[in-house]
Amino acid sequence: MSDADYQRRWQPGVETDARDGGAPSDTTEEQIATEEACQRCIDEICDPELRREAASLLTREHRTYCASGLWRLSAGYASLDASRPWLCYWIVHSLSILGTRIDAAAADAVINFIGRCRDPDCGGFCGGPYPGQMAHLAPTYAAVNTLVTIGTPAAFELIKGAKLGSFLRAMRREDGAFTMHHDGEVDVRGAYCAIAVATLSGEVEATGPWEDTANWILGCQTYEGGVGATPGEEAHGGYTFCGLAALSLLGAAHRLRLPPLVRWLVGRQMAHAGGFQGRTNKLVDSCYSFWQGGAFPLVQSLLQSRGELAPGGAIYNAPALLDYLIVCAQVAQGGLRDKPGKGRDYYHTCYALSGLAVAASASELPGVPEGWVNGVRLINPIFNVVNDKVEAALEHFRAAE
Ligand code: FPP
Ligand code: ZN
Repeated sequence: MSDADYQRRWQPGVETDARDGGAPSDTTEEQIATEEACQRCIDEICDPELRREAASLLTREHRTYCASGLWRLSAGYASLDASRPWLCYWIVHSLSILGTRIDAAAADAVINFIGRCRDPDCGGFCGGPYPGQMAHLAPTYAAVNTLVTIGTPAAFELIKGAKLGSFLRAMRREDGAFTMHHDGEVDVRGAYCAIAVATLSGEVEATGPWEDTANWILGCQTYEGGVGATPGEEAHGGYTFCGLAALSLLGAAHRLRLPPLVRWLVGRQMAHAGGFQGRTNKLVDSCYSFWQGGAFPLVQSLLQSRGELAPGGAIYNAPALLDYLIVCAQVAQGGLRDKPGKGRDYYHTCYALSGLAVAASASELPGVPEGWVNGVRLINPIFNVVNDKVEAALEHFRAAE
């Protein structure tokens, strides 16, 4: 990338959304303030002489931050009381992207903790130790992804002993959609969690048929092109990822209306910040580096299979996303944040690093210093688990069938 290109990317005020057309609102003011906060990060980190070379992926600091969370898992985090397997996943997956093997004692502690979250009656995993919480598809997905990432015989045994097939069948509605828990809400997260868990644990046949599920998800694509939580709701990155990944696993992603989906996804990358927003007219946020960024390998492969994109071709600006993650989202002491001005947390650390791992797999990253993606392990974007761990689980449970 030339100096002129680099300067152009960071010109303040180029965000289309920021132009208030003479009618300022909270939305336009927040957008402008966010652009200015990003610009301050660039100005701070980018000495005019050293520029981007001054920044790097703070692998050691992120490892330290994640490892410290791993040892506090059972201490409880009040605000995440019903998301404790998620905490395990965010931390274990972040470490695995950073290429950090967790030692046997830490792995045992995580496996034991997740084992305490198993619902022995309904099957599946709860948001915290049982009894006291109910089995739920979201922590079940988080628990299975954590155990697959750990990938030891004890982790696989726990997956096998969690009665996942009967839990998934109980969450399935007649129309093919999935409820998040008994008498719970129904949205596209449910369908994604169900097919992801079923695939990794060898329960696809036993949970199906899946045709109605695919049709139900297809009905969630909106007029904008992205996917909403349920039919008729606003397109959002989180649900778009879930819908697209689920349909990819079901072999039905080609049935989405591709041109509007591509247009919507591409339009969520912010012109000034380089990161993604979750929906139209909202602010950049590092977690969408994965929820939106992770959708690109899936749509790119659809375009490639139609001969509409060259092999290895990309339709988003991965170097600009890396700019946002490295320069604006990293916290110097370790961990990543939603945006400048916010604090670090494990959710954003996980999804920012996941988006970084997807970007790192681009066939070309013009102008990106090596140190920005060095040592990062590549992930399977459908499950958001590192590639070799997905392969090992699929093989293990296929053999066990
Ligand atoms: C909007 O929050 C966020 C949502 C409506 C939910 C998003 C869904 C996911 C992130 C997917 C979850 C996936 C699984 C597998 C459970 P907001 O209004 O605070 O954020 P925004 O302003 O960025 O839209
Ligand atoms: Zn976020």
